Amino acid sequence: MIEARNLCKSYRNGRETVAVLHNLSLELEPGETVAVTGPSGCGKSTLLNLLNGLSRPDAGVLEVFGSTPADDDAWAALRRSRIATLFQDGNLIPTLTVARNLAFRAGLAGRSADGAAALLEALDIAAVAERYPDQLSGGQRQRAALACAFAIEPRLMLADEPTGSLDEATASRVMPLFVEAVRQRGLTALIVTHNPELAGRCDRVLRLHEGGLVPCP
Ligand SMILES: Nc1ncnc2c1ncn2[C@@H]1O[C@H](COP(=O)(O)OP(=O)(O)O)[C@@H](O)[C@H]1O
Ligand SMILES: [Mg+2]
Repeated sequence: MIEARNLCKSYRNGRETVAVLHNLSLELEPGETVAVTGPSGCGKSTLLNLLNGLSRPDAGVLEVFGSTPADDDAWAALRRSRIATLFQDGNLIPTLTVARNLAFRAGLAGRSADGAAALLEALDIAAVAERYPDQLSGGQRQRAALACAFAIEPRLMLADEPTGSLDEATASRVMPLFVEAVRQRGLTALIVTHNPELAGRCDRVLRLHEGGLVPCP
């Protein structure tokens, strides 16, 4: 599903080059849910952005669904319909209602939005489907973004601190639904999180440490 070998990624800040990921390797089996933890600034978002092709490694091999996407277009096609990323701040289009956000994302992927509409019910945001993102609470926005991520019917779900903007009570209610929806659909998921409850629901927990991934007991 995902096979990464010896990925390296550095950023240049002025004259200084900072190595963030160093010889990172990762294998994700189909249907596996894996949590990634690690302190702020250790490179978790950098890793997710390599896995969805928003940025490229400096070195190493990355195969998704059995091959290395050839170019930007190939990565963009994957992001439209096979790789969903749930970003920290919920990536909704501000000029579209929740329902239209869903329909738009589903449409781009060539899917019907019917399945995702049922998710709005499950996530308890059906009542705000006709509102715009700026008319929602942070928690509602995050749940709407979650529904949008599922609307493309992806095979791989990447999530960057999905509980970040949720209060504890909402996180405890929504995250089990998230993991259950991932499992029901047989998706493979990589979830960056500091939330022990969410990490505990995953099959494996990895820690990003000194640029590489190590198993967490
Ligand atoms: N575009 C960028 N340019 C320069 N430095 C960056 C850039 N993106 C991230 N960094 C740096 O790389 C490190 C890892 O960032 P990030 O992957 O966002 O960490 P995390 O998600 O674990 O908090 C941080 O030190 C951050 O400042
Ligand atoms: Mg981050």
